[in-house]
Amino acid sequence: MNKRHLFILLTFAIMLVGLLFTQPNRSTIPYYKNLDSSVQYIGDEECAACHADIYNSFIRTGMGRSFYPAGNAEAIEDFKNNAPIYDANNNFYYKASLQEGNIVQTEYRINAAGEKIHELNRRADYVMGSGNHNRTYVTVQNGFVKELPLTWYVDKKKWDLSPGYHTTNMRFFRPIVEECMHCHNSFTDFESNSQNKYNIPLPHGIGCERCHGPGRLHVQTRIDNKNELKSSIDYTIVNPKHLPFQEQLDVCQQCHLQGEISVFQPDKRSTDFRPGIKLSLVKSIFMEKNQTPNEFRIASHAERLAKSACFQESSSLTCITCHNPHVPVQEHSRRSFNDNCLACHDPKTLIVKNIENHKQNSDCVKCHMTQGGTADIPHVNFTDHKIQIPKKIQTTTTPISGRIYNAPIELVNFFTKEKSPNAIQTGIAYVRYFESRHQHKDYLIKAIAMLKKSLQENDHQIAGWYHLGRAYHLTGDLKNAESAYYQTIAQDPNHTLALAQLGVLAFANERLTQALSSFQRSINSYPYNPVVWNNYGHALLFSDSIDAALAAYTMAISLDPDYANAFNNRGELLLYKQTELGKGKNDFLSCLALDPDHIFAMHNMSNIALLEEDLENAERFALQALSINNDFVLAYGTLATVFQRQGRLDEAKRALSRIIKLDKNNADARKILDSLRD
Ligand code: HEC
Ligand code: HEC
Ligand code: HEC
Ligand code: HEC
Ligand code: HEC
Ligand code: HEC
Ligand code: HEC
Repeated sequence: MNKRHLFILLTFAIMLVGLLFTQPNRSTIPYYKNLDSSVQYIGDEECAACHADIYNSFIRTGMGRSFYPAGNAEAIEDFKNNAPIYDANNNFYYKASLQEGNIVQTEYRINAAGEKIHELNRRADYVMGSGNHNRTYVTVQNGFVKELPLTWYVDKKKWDLSPGYHTTNMRFFRPIVEECMHCHNSFTDFESNSQNKYNIPLPHGIGCERCHGPGRLHVQTRIDNKNELKSSIDYTIVNPKHLPFQEQLDVCQQCHLQGEISVFQPDKRSTDFRPGIKLSLVKSIFMEKNQTPNEFRIASHAERLAKSACFQESSSLTCITCHNPHVPVQEHSRRSFNDNCLACHDPKTLIVKNIENHKQNSDCVKCHMTQGGTADIPHVNFTDHKIQIPKKIQTTTTPISGRIYNAPIELVNFFTKEKSPNAIQTGIAYVRYFESRHQHKDYLIKAIAMLKKSLQENDHQIAGWYHLGRAYHLTGDLKNAESAYYQTIAQDPNHTLALAQLGVLAFANERLTQALSSFQRSINSYPYNPVVWNNYGHALLFSDSIDAALAAYTMAISLDPDYANAFNNRGELLLYKQTELGKGKNDFLSCLALDPDHIFAMHNMSNIALLEEDLENAERFALQALSINNDFVLAYGTLATVFQRQGRLDEAKRALSRIIKLDKNNADARKILDSLRD
């Protein structure tokens, strides 16, 4: 064998050794075969066939019971001794009851005489929350999933407004958006262009595949070659235990790290996360920079744990160090948790002042992981996962009325911290934070500066352009808003939301042809958005396409039967364009049944009463409108007419003077007033 041969053999051997010892590059290529997007989800029942023990245990956990049909719910609520809950801000009462086996929530209002003047009912179709802490209910209409106003607070055994409803009562209409659903349930068939439309039925609770990835390949492989196990790790299915530190933590963080707001990476949604990849590839999660030090929130286990010295200085502590998620947390003994502490802290070598407290059998958790209320959800007890020297943590024992915002907060990306903030993601976060949480214009100013700058550097960022458009739009800079929306559709001609916003802006500027075409394009790319249909209806109405406008409003209503404004709009068309008093009246009544404070529907009702010569009701509805807004000019007009017809001239004059005071250029009112004075 000559030297050259030897050399080749040697390199070959080195290559072999290299092959044997090189781990696949975990962060870039899929090392688990079920990360491939072709592998399908199959549901828990199939896993149960071979992993019966785990299955039977898991379905008893909070996660296994996190979402289910209301009919299957074991009744833990008290429907007898429940005084109605009064929302003083909005003057509504709420009550939950059991009607023919269904949980029904009722909203009502009572006038000074004690009569019921409004009532609205909704049935709970699904329950969100195992009942370990609380149960929130959702109702489904045409696939649109909405939260109900009352929650059953298990620990306190009482009904109260749902979390967040103390500050903003969204009644029966709070949309359950995809992100919220996918933290509380298995993946659903969600319509990605919608806010809250799902294909029904919905799955029943968080399943195995959210932590293990899709199972088709694993099951097939196990069935095909029953006894063959090539390595100790089965790469057809993810066992979180075998994942690197960050990926292991991310399996739980996809749901247990809520933050203030999260922003998905371009073209990513919650369903793009699969166990085994880094969560930061799918979304950025933003925290409040200067949080009250010892305040913690409901889905913040990961955030709090990350603040502990144990976490920071061990670089090996993850959720599964202490938790076996297949077993209900209540069935883990306190001893087993304390043993986790002992694995890293030997009481004998601890340097502590109080040695008595630091024995092998001491209850470490009791002193170092405090239990108490959370800042965002009233009436529940949670474990603060910041492991620390005992401090008094901020707990809330009475129902908090939601967060009170004063100064704007600063948002920090949890993953990148302040080292390398991504300006696009942060800008989008500020816009969305403004839209969903705290309407302070500083967020928009910040967002505009960030988005503009980074779009100058790289203008291929569709979501960046769209949110720049939103930010300008919300600050009232319509010109720049429009051009940002145009940039959005230049890159994505089917961007249904940008098209809809362009329609809104064109309509506001009375460019009707343009408005019509934008709305049509928006509808062509996504036909199930009731708001777009409603706005399209306006554009058609103003273009004198009355029949088409009627059809558009009707479409909005049939998509979302809770859409109060669309009822009023259709009623106005029927009343003022087609003189269909009866049909118009039905629509105004439907609108008022959904929203008893809808001032335009009241006004329209008083106009119908005028047309029907029913002066008493005309006056009643006009006064009702004024009780909501004392400066509502249109109602004074109706009143003036009523008074004039009834010969109550002084009152008519007063109403007319009021109109002139509110609307100085109202020549008609002035003319009538002058004629009355003669
Ligand atoms: C046809 C039988 C079969 C079915 C169905 C099945 N498994 Fe397995 N699975 C096995 C066997 C056998 C093993 C290896 C022994 C063990 O760990 O139980 C295994 C191992 C695993 C492991 C450990 C892998 C490792 O590398 O440590 C996980 C996780 C797992 N299965 C999850 C699931 C999930 C989730 C489902 C449903 C989507 C499922 N299995 C369905 C037979 C099956
Ligand atoms: C798909 C979202 C999701 C994922 C992934 C997830 N959780 Fe959960 N987890 C929840 C929700 C939601 C609840 C509350 C369920 C309820 O009680 O309604 C919960 C509850 C829990 C509980 C308390 C109740 C119980 O089930 O015993 C523990 C402990 C827990 N999770 C640990 C973990 C760990 C550890 C991981 C990662 C291995 C993890 N979770 C991954 C969403 C998730
Ligand atoms: C990032 C994931 C995430 C999002 C988004 C999210 N939640 Fe949660 N939520 C959780 C987790 C995790 C818990 C459980 C905490 C625990 O049990 O300690 C929880 C707890 C709850 C609970 C208390 C249930 C119980 O018994 O523990 C309710 C009710 C709830 N969430 C409703 C909602 C609603 C409604 C939305 C959307 C508007 C929402 N959540 C959005 C993760 C999330
Ligand atoms: C909330 C996340 C989560 C869910 C949901 C979940 N698992 Fe697991 N599973 C884990 C973790 C974490 C491990 C590793 C546990 C350990 O050994 O530390 C694991 C391990 C396993 C294993 C390996 C063997 C063992 O006993 O540890 C099997 C098999 C398994 N899971 C099956 C299932 C099945 C079947 C379901 C659904 C009924 C399920 N898992 C639901 C997180 C989850
Ligand atoms: C994975 C190992 C690990 C586990 C498990 C662990 N710790 Fe720690 N812990 C550490 C390290 C490392 C430090 C920092 C160095 C030190 O103070 O010993 C630390 C620090 C602490 C401190 C000092 C905190 C401070 O802010 O000064 C307390 C108290 C503590 N741990 C208690 C606990 C308790 C109680 C448990 C169980 C609930 C626990 N630890 C579990 C590794 C761990
Ligand atoms: C050092 C141990 C330890 C670690 C690490 C840990 N937990 Fe816990 N966890 C506990 C203890 C102790 C409890 C309280 C159990 C009880 O009530 O007896 C708990 C309770 C919970 C609960 C039930 C609700 C509550 O707040 O009491 C959830 C959910 C939970 N942990 C999630 C997580 C998640 C997610 C992670 C990872 C980010 C995690 N835990 C990491 C020790 C730990
Ligand atoms: C009765 C409450 C109590 C119990 C039980 C308790 N601790 Fe502590 N621990 C404290 C207090 C208070 C301090 C700080 C004052 C001191 O040093 O004694 C402390 C300090 C510590 C420190 C910090 C030491 C240092 O200087 O950084 C560690 C680590 C620790 N405890 C771990 C544990 C572990 C592990 C257990 C369970 C075996 C445990 N503790 C049980 C109250 C307790």
